[in-house]
Amino acid sequence: MKEKLVEVAKQAMAMAYAPYSGYLVGAALLCADGTIYTGCNVENASYGATICAERTAFSKAVSEGKRDFTAIAIVGGKDGKPSEAVCAPCGVCRQVMREFCGDDFFVYLVAADQVETMTLAQLLPVSFGPENLKND
Ligand code: THU
Repeated sequence: MKEKLVEVAKQAMAMAYAPYSGYLVGAALLCADGTIYTGCNVENASYGATICAERTAFSKAVSEGKRDFTAIAIVGGKDGKPSEAVCAPCGVCRQVMREFCGDDFFVYLVAADQVETMTLAQLLPVSFGPENLKND
């Protein structure tokens, strides 16, 4: 499934709208039920209104009723090609993953010649999440 997710993320990269940075990002989010949601970055002339590929994928999935996720593959680069360095999710996207995913959620960081596998716990240790807001 890792290979499939990586392939789908690369395809999603082609949909990126990134006229300002020129850095295209694609994501493929695997749901527990086996479905895959894609995402790409969608930039905006008001730069802060940009949404990352990962959050696009999560928003699509959650808005269609999905809440259980297994893994995500992320790939980014200029000229539509995966970069030499892996594309790691930004801090905001890590926090959005934290909202819906457990410590063992797999994040596949894709580069031109390698795929690095990490867990959400590794990417966002000592985190703040929904359970912090529950009553004791
Ligand atoms: N970007 C993503 O889509 N995901 C990340 O995790 C890192 C950054 C996008 C946002 C912006 O459109 C471009 O990459 C450059 O920051």
